[in-house]
Amino acid sequence: MPEPKPFVSIRDVSNTYVSRSYGVLGKKTGKSVLDHVGLEIRDGEIFGLVGESGCGKTTLARAMLGLIDYEGEILIGGIRQDRRRRREMARKVQAVFQDPAGSLNPVKTVGSILEEPLRIQGVKSREERVRRVDEILSLIGLDPAYKTRRPSELSGGQRQRVCIGCALMPAPKLIVADEAVSSLDVSVGAQILNLFQDLHQRLGLSLFFISHNLNVVYYLCDRITVMYRGQIVELGAAGDIYDNAAHPYTQALLAAVPEPVGEEAAPPEAVLAAETPDAVPAACKYARICPRREECGGREPGDPVNIARTGKEPHYVRCVLVSAHM
Ligand SMILES: Nc1ncnc2c1ncn2[C@@H]1O[C@H](COP(=O)(O)OP(=O)(O)O)[C@@H](O)[C@H]1O
Ligand SMILES: [Mg+2]
Repeated sequence: MPEPKPFVSIRDVSNTYVSRSYGVLGKKTGKSVLDHVGLEIRDGEIFGLVGESGCGKTTLARAMLGLIDYEGEILIGGIRQDRRRRREMARKVQAVFQDPAGSLNPVKTVGSILEEPLRIQGVKSREERVRRVDEILSLIGLDPAYKTRRPSELSGGQRQRVCIGCALMPAPKLIVADEAVSSLDVSVGAQILNLFQDLHQRLGLSLFFISHNLNVVYYLCDRITVMYRGQIVELGAAGDIYDNAAHPYTQALLAAVPEPVGEEAAPPEAVLAAETPDAVPAACKYARICPRREECGGREPGDPVNIARTGKEPHYVRCVLVSAHM
């Protein structure tokens, strides 16, 4: 049977942040973050992205929301996302971020915060707006009495519920949740995870759930991808990633080994060029801290390889050692 069409299709996406220094020469400098990222999110799926801080997770989220320029292609519901389409695409994709306090206008009441997206959409009837707000309050598990409260009168968990409510207002098909429980206490975070699960089931929402915490992603997601320095290194069913992690980086994340990532370390190209004259210049990014580096010499892994048995959910790994044993 052919695979159902994915709701989100991310193909070969890379980006460079350009900043201008205002020194004598005013030179433009670029920082490349996403490095040929590709993945698909199926209709109604909870898809997780995990990786350490600074690897590019939020950058990918921003590209999916049409907030930054990128190379490659991001299709959401068959339409290419980019900065010019951001408003039109807001009906398809919405976001929830880490800091619920910073996302909410402190002087407005919960009721008017939730109404705002409807006003932007041009819903003129006040009755209709109130009906929608009540409906959303019930979905996010807040009593209608909260409509008259301000964000400062709410707990962190309640504020995050309001942010989720705002995201639901335009009735999107996909929510990108970027570290949405990371600033909450464990028990409150667990309640918010359950709310996401509930919304997924009741509304058939697709979720792109981003976290640096593999346990959180595993709890919620159907499939997971692992990112390291802007590249996808592993992707598969949540159970396969958790129980049969094949990439040394995923294994390190699971073992919670502290990752000594520091800009002062020599780049892998330089180290490898010194040790092995024939080394390919664009070597594996993980090589400089990979515990298995001696086995492969840090060779460029190339495209991800599917290590799953035929007929099973694909399990992609981007590592020379793994593909060599197939
Ligand atoms: N606007 C920006 N300009 C330049 N560099 C940025 C910008 N935003 C993020 N970065 C850099 O891009 C890298 C990835 O950041 P980010 O996507 O926020 O990572 P994550 O969400 O995984 O922690 C980091 O090195 C960060 O410093
Ligand atoms: Mg981030």
